[in-house]
Amino acid sequence: MSLVIKLGGSVAENPSALEKVIRGIKDISDGNPFVLVHGGGKQITSFLSELGIETYFVDGERYTDRRTMEVVEMVLSGLVNKQITSILCHMGIKSIGLSGRDLNLITVRRKMELGYVGEVKSVDVEPMKRLLDAGFTLVLSPVSETEDGLPCNVNADFVAIEVGKALRASKLFLFTDVTGVLDGNKNIIPLLDVETARDFIERGIIREGMIPKVRSAISAISAGVKEVWIGNNPVQGTIIRGKDNGP
Ligand SMILES: Nc1ncnc2c1ncn2[C@@H]1O[C@H](COP(=O)(O)OP(=O)(O)OP(=O)(O)O)[C@@H](O)[C@H]1O
Ligand SMILES: [Mg+2]
Repeated sequence: MSLVIKLGGSVAENPSALEKVIRGIKDISDGNPFVLVHGGGKQITSFLSELGIETYFVDGERYTDRRTMEVVEMVLSGLVNKQITSILCHMGIKSIGLSGRDLNLITVRRKMELGYVGEVKSVDVEPMKRLLDAGFTLVLSPVSETEDGLPCNVNADFVAIEVGKALRASKLFLFTDVTGVLDGNKNIIPLLDVETARDFIERGIIREGMIPKVRSAISAISAGVKEVWIGNNPVQGTIIRGKDNGP
């Protein structure tokens, strides 16, 4: 069974925090190769601001014009991807850095209203399986392309979930910069069912970057994934599952 992990960009920003998270992931993986999809939202925003390019989000997804897309690709598939791959390799996890564009791993449909943003249309799991079987951990930047070869920015939460579904993972881990999904009083919700999750998005308790995370978790549960974990430390966090999955 394949393990799929999403790592938020802000975790990757701090090498000691990253090493700590990777030690936790190493325990979860039990020494087996895994797929690690990463974000890099904060790093993209900081590069854009250095270049004087304005940026804004719609329901947690970045509006991406052509110039922004170039920066997204440089930061995600370049800088962040190589930083994470290098740390994994130095920790003894044989890893290879890729993006959705390599080996045609991920094909997207363009969401025109967001510019160069895609939603995942298909995932080619065969090359992934071959690399995993050969013992390589995959570090995957979510930048992907349309059938015509147009690069698109894709929220890494959606990519992780679609890769998880395609590899038939039973549990998905979304590591982020908060302890878990927080309720209106800022307390962690240990167990969140799909109905409550939807309600919290509608009521604005779940906002910004937590929206794609929870929306993709909901879609994973309806596709048969048993549970999705969200947090920054495997010993706590939020587990999202369907209502009839029991305690
Ligand atoms: N109810 C909520 N509970 C927890 N976090 C929330 C909630 N509503 C909004 N958020 C925000 O969601 C953020 C996490 O999403 P964000 O997109 O910033 O990070 P990420 O997805 O881990 O990283 P990246 O986007 O780089 O992959 C939190 O830092 C927090 O500010
Ligand atoms: Mg995010």
